[in-house]
Amino acid sequence: MSIRLNGIRYPKISLLAGMAGLTITFSIFGRAQELGDHQYTSEAIQAGLRVYSRECALCHGPQGDLVSGINLARGEFRSAQSDDDLRSVISEGRAQGQMPAFDLRETELSGVIAYIRAGLDPDGVAIPIGDAGRGLALFQGKGECASCHRVNGTGPRIAPDLSAIGVQRSPASLQLNLIDPAAAILPINRPVRIVTRNEETITGRRLNEDTYTVQLIDSNEQLRSLIKSDLVTYEISEAPSKGPTHLTPAEVADVIAYLLTLDGDV
Ligand code: HEC
Ligand code: HEC
Repeated sequence: MSIRLNGIRYPKISLLAGMAGLTITFSIFGRAQELGDHQYTSEAIQAGLRVYSRECALCHGPQGDLVSGINLARGEFRSAQSDDDLRSVISEGRAQGQMPAFDLRETELSGVIAYIRAGLDPDGVAIPIGDAGRGLALFQGKGECASCHRVNGTGPRIAPDLSAIGVQRSPASLQLNLIDPAAAILPINRPVRIVTRNEETITGRRLNEDTYTVQLIDSNEQLRSLIKSDLVTYEISEAPSKGPTHLTPAEVADVIAYLLTLDGDV
């Protein structure tokens, strides 16, 4: 599979899928503390498994797919989106009592939500999902995401277009982009700074490279192909010049909720 950017096709998805798993594993070891604020604990997930087996499996089934139109393991609901929505569904019930209201203790309630977010996998990773509306506001405002990313035809091209990111990536891999952009960045997409023989300085994002040439998208959003023997300086940096690291865990959960709504359908 390949992605089209300014007329040039370059392979991405398959590489990304492979890389994403790798980066996440490393990053969890190195940053357990930081990720801790951003994920449900495995104790919560285990507690949720017990509640689910006792209270929910009877109707929803062990795989979470027995009520029509709902797949709890895949996060497919009729109207609920955020974790707060799930709280209301569970504590208030639905459809005139076809789903009864549950009076659970707080640890049981957050546990069963964690278990659902972990995909009904007791060993899974459970990412809190916040409010998509607040996430959109953060995307365009405080998070400054819209200053680099394009969505549904609006915004610059200096960073990947996110119009379909919600169907391309899991919540866990999206979260990594938000809390550790340096770990999530693909080496090929790193920022570059180039000085040519005619003393032009070009900064941008590398798209492709072979022995003799390098292709990049420059800070004016122009696609450039340069011959390496014409370059005086060619520097590749480790990380995006500016990353979205200044968001709180609750804000990250909101932005993830928004990104998950981006399914490529305008
Ligand atoms: C007696 C059967 C029954 C039990 C027990 C039950 N549910 Fe449900 N649940 C339903 C039905 C039926 C619906 C669909 C309601 C509707 O039509 O909107 C539903 C819907 C849901 C939804 C989706 C809401 C949405 O917006 O689409 C979630 C999430 C959910 N249940 C979670 C749970 C959890 C967690 C438990 C255990 C604590 C549980 N349910 C126990 C029958 C049940
Ligand atoms: C200074 C520019 C910049 C800002 C600000 C920025 N990003 Fe990015 N972002 C990038 C670049 C460059 C990449 C490409 C990294 C890669 O895939 O190698 C990227 C990658 C991503 C990806 C992965 C895209 C893909 O196709 O896999 C996501 C998701 C993302 N950013 C979300 C965000 C969100 C959400 C924000 C705001 C909270 C944000 N970014 C802010 C530059 C930026």
